[in-house]
Amino acid sequence: MLRVLVMNGPNLNLLGTRETGVYGTTRLDDIEGMCVAKAAELGVDVTFYQSNHEGSLIDRLHEAMGSCDGVVMNPGAYTHYSYAIRDAIAAIGLPVVEVHLSDITAREDFRKISVTGPVCIGQVAGLGPGSYLTGLEVLVTHLRKED
Ligand code: DQA
Repeated sequence: MLRVLVMNGPNLNLLGTRETGVYGTTRLDDIEGMCVAKAAELGVDVTFYQSNHEGSLIDRLHEAMGSCDGVVMNPGAYTHYSYAIRDAIAAIGLPVVEVHLSDITAREDFRKISVTGPVCIGQVAGLGPGSYLTGLEVLVTHLRKED
């Protein structure tokens, strides 16, 4: 069975109460529950990781080598400036789909740039929690094409 890791970066543990006008009221736990249901529908195994720390996210990406087939990742604000996370994604050689709850192209100028996006196989943004579900579909479709 394909093994997918869903990763979340800084401040995403506060979903549900954080800037609800932008991110909605759905909690990270709820999103993870939706991902479990979607993974069951797709017939894949899913695990989760969230950290507010750049190095911890990088360590988890490294650990995914050999233990996961692909990653759905919301790097949070690191999206816009973490060359270290970008390099980690490029280094592990696993397909990564970048997801965002909000439409980062329609927000402040600094959010319009994703330094991580170019090393991902795709980006899904602006669908709220649905971005994660579409991200899972994109990743699994890609992985099944590889076989
Ligand atoms: C976000 C968008 C980022 O710009 C922001 O820093 C986040 C959340 C999103 O899911 O819309 O933390 O990644």
